[in-house]
Amino acid sequence: MMKSQKRDTDKPKVLLELRNVSKIYRIPKNGSIVAVESASFVVHEGEFVTLIGPSGCGKSTTLRIIGGFIKPTAGEVYIEGKLVNDLGPEERNIPMVFQNYALFPHLTVFENIAYGLKARRLPSDAVAHDVAMMCQMLNLVGTESRFPSELSDGQQQRVALARALVLKPKILLFDEPLSNLDARLRIQTRAEIKRMQQILNITALYVTHDQAEALGSPDRVIVMNNGQIIQEGNPREVYDRPRTPFVADFISNANFYDAYVLSVGERDVLISVQELEFSVPLANCDHIPARDDVLLVAINPITIALAPLGTSLGQMQCEGEIEHSLFGGHSLQYTVRFGSTTIRVVHPNIQGSEVQYSVGSMVSLTFNPTSFRLYEVKG
Ligand SMILES: Nc1ncnc2c1ncn2[C@@H]1O[C@H](COP(=O)(O)OP(=O)(O)OP(=O)(O)O)[C@@H](O)[C@H]1O
Ligand SMILES: [Mg+2]
Repeated sequence: MMKSQKRDTDKPKVLLELRNVSKIYRIPKNGSIVAVESASFVVHEGEFVTLIGPSGCGKSTTLRIIGGFIKPTAGEVYIEGKLVNDLGPEERNIPMVFQNYALFPHLTVFENIAYGLKARRLPSDAVAHDVAMMCQMLNLVGTESRFPSELSDGQQQRVALARALVLKPKILLFDEPLSNLDARLRIQTRAEIKRMQQILNITALYVTHDQAEALGSPDRVIVMNNGQIIQEGNPREVYDRPRTPFVADFISNANFYDAYVLSVGERDVLISVQELEFSVPLANCDHIPARDDVLLVAINPITIALAPLGTSLGQMQCEGEIEHSLFGGHSLQYTVRFGSTTIRVVHPNIQGSEVQYSVGSMVSLTFNPTSFRLYEVKG
């Protein structure tokens, strides 16, 4: 493909750059809200980047700043190396696809998709050609003369996507575009967006607060909290090596415990957690710890193996009792009591073959300490 050939020969071009962008909303009589705080990141040409974080962390504000709908309080936005702080949305060619589609209700599918092209005064045969191509690509053929109210949610979302894509934007911004759709349609539409992005070689910045959605398809993930960028990297990196307890909690719903440092070796640190001892690679620690320190250990629920009591799975093992069990379709989720505490364990339900432990049954738990993350306790 063009994209990979290009990538092989030269460095990917930076299409979008934010430098120390902040946004403070002033609220009359109520002080101010720091919605975005000194955010810096780049998006390369052809990249699909997701921006993830909890509600209110500043994702939409960041997108609106990039689209030119609001001005940052401080910092700079560059598109293809050019400072665009003073350009309005119409001068940037960075459309946004919203959660509520924002289609024109009184215009047909054709007219909705054609709207931006007509505004650019394209000849009508060129408009018809481009709209027809979009309808073909997005499976909207046959709906052209209908109004948005006569479409399903998925079709409306595809019209919104077509309307943005037809303008061949430099970057496409998505703000939680699929949260109105049911789970199946969401997976389908997400795959569709990814496919279109690759075919048209479009650069996309996609906002979501859904972990599965954020990790599912992108080249890179940017994690935000309280207006700040906390971590960025490829999905695997962020999932396997969360930089802070917040990321471990938000991305993998990790279990957290106090960890007492028993000794520090050249490569590993020996810790005690709930009276169990584990040797964890020093590389999994966010700082160099010292003996007797108390750290925070994050244990990802999918890294813990369960087996009927008595089965030997390995060294790092203890007994537990199933306290709660939930069948989640793709996965089985347990709360297991061990020692004086509990731990969440998640098992993939591979082809329905996974045994489900019933509440009250005794199991052996096996840990994988090479996947533990250790953090300095702050504050
Ligand atoms: N126009 C506004 N005036 C005042 N405060 C605002 C405004 N828009 C957003 N905020 C505040 O700024 C912060 C960031 O809001 P933003 O909409 O960017 O969050 P978000 O990450 O998109 O959240 P969500 O996932 O719920 O959509 C929030 O505290 C919000 O209440
Ligand atoms: Mg938002």
